[in-house]
Amino acid sequence: MALTAPRQTVVNRAAAAEWYLRNRSRSRSLFDLIDPSAYYSRPIALRNPIVFYEGHLPAFSVIAFINRGLGREGVDARLEQLFARGIDPDSEASATPRSGADTRWPPREEVLAFGERVDALVLDAIRNAPFDETRPAMGRAEGLFTALEHEAMHQETLLYMWHRLPHEQKVRPTYLPYETRGEAPARASVKIPAGEATLGNVSTRATSPGQAPSTRSARSGQGSEIPFGWDNEFEAHTVPVDAFEIDAHSVTNGDYLPFVEAGHVEPPVFWLREGGQWYWRGMFENLPLPLSWPVYVSQEAAAAYARSLGRRLMTEPEFHRAAFGTPSGEERRYPWGADRPDRSRGHFDFASWDPVPAGSRPAGMSAWGVHDLVGNGWEWTSTLFAAFEGFAPMASYPEYSAEFFDGEHYVMKGASSATARELIRPSFRNWFRPNYPYVYAKFRTAGSL
Ligand SMILES: [Fe+2]
Repeated sequence: MALTAPRQTVVNRAAAAEWYLRNRSRSRSLFDLIDPSAYYSRPIALRNPIVFYEGHLPAFSVIAFINRGLGREGVDARLEQLFARGIDPDSEASATPRSGADTRWPPREEVLAFGERVDALVLDAIRNAPFDETRPAMGRAEGLFTALEHEAMHQETLLYMWHRLPHEQKVRPTYLPYETRGEAPARASVKIPAGEATLGNVSTRATSPGQAPSTRSARSGQGSEIPFGWDNEFEAHTVPVDAFEIDAHSVTNGDYLPFVEAGHVEPPVFWLREGGQWYWRGMFENLPLPLSWPVYVSQEAAAAYARSLGRRLMTEPEFHRAAFGTPSGEERRYPWGADRPDRSRGHFDFASWDPVPAGSRPAGMSAWGVHDLVGNGWEWTSTLFAAFEGFAPMASYPEYSAEFFDGEHYVMKGASSATARELIRPSFRNWFRPNYPYVYAKFRTAGSL
């Protein structure tokens, strides 16, 4: 009896290849928005220059999937090393690109040629390589999904970085689908009774030893149904949540304006004042400040605003309760129910370059009548990013979460306009330093009852 053959995860390889290609073509189109003169600039001083990211995406797929997952060689060890890691310093003063301040970055043609070689290697591996479940980084095809989700996540990083570039350094699309109409929705508060919330990913951890391979296949266009989750999503657990009260709508630019004008905080980095008038610093143009849009601010500024009203930010468990809880007690997959995310449910999946009016996607409302919890900007919480009980770093990307359990990062939940639909799941957690003002993150205020 031969028992030596490695167990094979059943992956819908065609769907995974399609997702990879979709990712790659979107990444390419995002880099093509940048004028060549800006390619070596650092739109955010706390991050690497743009060139790094175009090399980083393929380099990471090599490291997580090809090297760690399959145990195979990449295509160019020098470039894979150069493009291996991003940075997250606590201040601009200490923001030396990880590869060194004197790093000589290659010309774009070299970066693109590297990307093409990696694409050929990765696609061949997705289609033909044996997926050996006994390799720690390949349990349930972990390394593959790590690479796929990593690229999708970075597309959001790229876009909020592009937001900081001067408009003349970007190629403006001919059609800009801005929705700027109207007044901010009337402020309303929703009471949510005490109950329970499930945090974390209820599927089996990717690297669980002895786990039977998944036989579920992926549906075209929706990524894979192999229940991938990042390490910080495990283990799933249920927590009690006291009764609380929460704003039905995000705090808007209109709500926030008096707070800025009274001098309580610096204006958000997405705002600009010219000739006595406030503007929204959009991706491709400045717009007279749309008062109905959610305000994008740092966690610190959001918390200060909430405090000024005698309120606070919601906690991570409160987010879960408000978004996925229901009066009858069961929890939903999405705020609106079980239907897969589409753009009628929320402003996400690259629907546009900037926000839409708060409350303008009522088909995505939660069971309690809370709007925009998933979409139109991530939601800041007051919860420090920390490991769930039973956390173990993932073999395909052990540094992903563990380095950030430092008491210096806060959890964001939900999704923004630049969050790919494949990343939208209740257990997905995002995190940033409280003073980081560049992300597409909004908030609402909460109060205890
Ligand atoms: Fe990365």
